[in-house]
Amino acid sequence: MTEIHTPWWQSGVLYQVYPRSFSDSDADGNGDLQGIIDRLDHLEWLGIDGIWLSPITLSPNADWGYDVADYCAVEPDLGTIELFDALVAGAGRRGIRVLMDLVPNHTSEEHLWFVDSRSSKTASKRDWYVWADATAEGAPPNNWVSSFGGPAWTLDATTGQFYLHNHLAEQPDLNWWHEDVRSAFDDIFRFWLDRGVAGFRIDVCNIIIKDKQLRDNPPATEDDDFEAQLFGQRPVYNGNRPEVHDVLRRWRRLTDSYDGSRALIGETPVKVDVLARYYGDGSDELHMAFNFPFITSPFEAETLRGIVEETEELLPLGAWPAWTGSNHDMSRFASRWGEGNPSKIGAAIVMLLCLRGTPVLYQGDEIGLGDRAVGHEDMRDPLGVLYFPAYAGRDAMRTPMPWRDAPGGGFTDPGVASWLPIGDTGPCNVEDQRSDPRSILHLTHDLIALRRETPELQTGAYESVKAPDGVWAWRRGDHMLVALNLSEGDATLADVEGRIRIGTDRQRDDEVLRGVVRLHPWEAVVIDTR
Ligand code: GLC
Ligand code: MG
Repeated sequence: MTEIHTPWWQSGVLYQVYPRSFSDSDADGNGDLQGIIDRLDHLEWLGIDGIWLSPITLSPNADWGYDVADYCAVEPDLGTIELFDALVAGAGRRGIRVLMDLVPNHTSEEHLWFVDSRSSKTASKRDWYVWADATAEGAPPNNWVSSFGGPAWTLDATTGQFYLHNHLAEQPDLNWWHEDVRSAFDDIFRFWLDRGVAGFRIDVCNIIIKDKQLRDNPPATEDDDFEAQLFGQRPVYNGNRPEVHDVLRRWRRLTDSYDGSRALIGETPVKVDVLARYYGDGSDELHMAFNFPFITSPFEAETLRGIVEETEELLPLGAWPAWTGSNHDMSRFASRWGEGNPSKIGAAIVMLLCLRGTPVLYQGDEIGLGDRAVGHEDMRDPLGVLYFPAYAGRDAMRTPMPWRDAPGGGFTDPGVASWLPIGDTGPCNVEDQRSDPRSILHLTHDLIALRRETPELQTGAYESVKAPDGVWAWRRGDHMLVALNLSEGDATLADVEGRIRIGTDRQRDDEVLRGVVRLHPWEAVVIDTR
């Protein structure tokens, strides 16, 4: 008889740590690896199975770690490789695995590969990056626009050629057509996998390969999404190229060669039909791919249900979704979906933890932490600095984690200026919510615990259930039913027998249902229908 074995990354819950803002152990204002080690008790209590660490590797921080100067060295602000090993070991003792953030699309301009590459046209690593001549008129080689706005090319005086960068000019794109680049990354994978990491979150993995002929992108049409319209072009040739799948298959083989327990989760900001392709045949490319249509959806029953149904329909057999509402680039869902309303935030937590797929919480989601406005003078994100006031950048979702209602928020010592201001702590902090059984923190904890003891919630099939307007209800497996009232009015769902296991109104936990369940505005329930 074959044993049915669910991999940990499918049954578990992931949690993104943004290290510089998680916990500061040495009172220098920056969160650090020792800080994460000091907070493992919190993550263990919460019931987290794996943490994804935003980059901890050496970086001049033009883009806060996403401009890597050495893929195998730890950024000194954050700690040392010994501390990293201690983190993996300490987390492991608590049953928590650690995933790294890998940034293969580009390096920092300070990476020694690029220092060599830009030094001359005949440098040994010249072709590790994408260099091209100006047009006859002296314009950039083609019309590509950087995802951060402006031309994706910068002229380099030393050799008179342009280099490609899909983000900041300080982040030159690697040339993924080059076999030496591919094998250099194989070594980086092995370096961390050998150290015991459980896998990688892979930064913008859908755009690493570009058109070999560097053809111009066609103009955007009115059917294109917001970003294409903003940039005036459809990103046909500088991303989502067919050849990227060769690289993903190579990484999957390498990752799976490590005892079959490691996982890759890709950052894939694309529509659902394109997203599905990054799973390959369901078992030969990414283990999981972030679903951006879901993150960016309004908090509306019909829209969210549509995205989830489409995902369920289009993903290949065997593919496993991932669901997330916040990260270090997007506004935190407690603000975006929840608008600071605890009922809405609670409903969003129920949604994230009860869909079929791996929930990925972002630090602070568990206490319903919203964005914290950061004034122009305190801004750290290059995008905020560049585009203020039209766009305030991503600092508001990167502010430090409030552990207590006290100066420094328990993040750093009182009186220390943290790298980003922590803002008003108020009741939204871990300590106060720990002592309040009605808090978002306890709701999150209890839902994770319920998920752990209920195989249906981990691996049971998803099936939408007919529900009145504004209500989204679905079954998981044989006997779990989840219902969210995402509307301002009371609602009733018919034909429901069973018992509420957890409700956002915690007084309803264990309520027996005979025939109907009535839901107040923004109320959510998880029901065992046996
Ligand atoms: C990804 C990261 C983002 C970064 C960008 C460039 O989108 O999540 O923070 O700025 O890639 O590396
Ligand atoms: Mg520190």
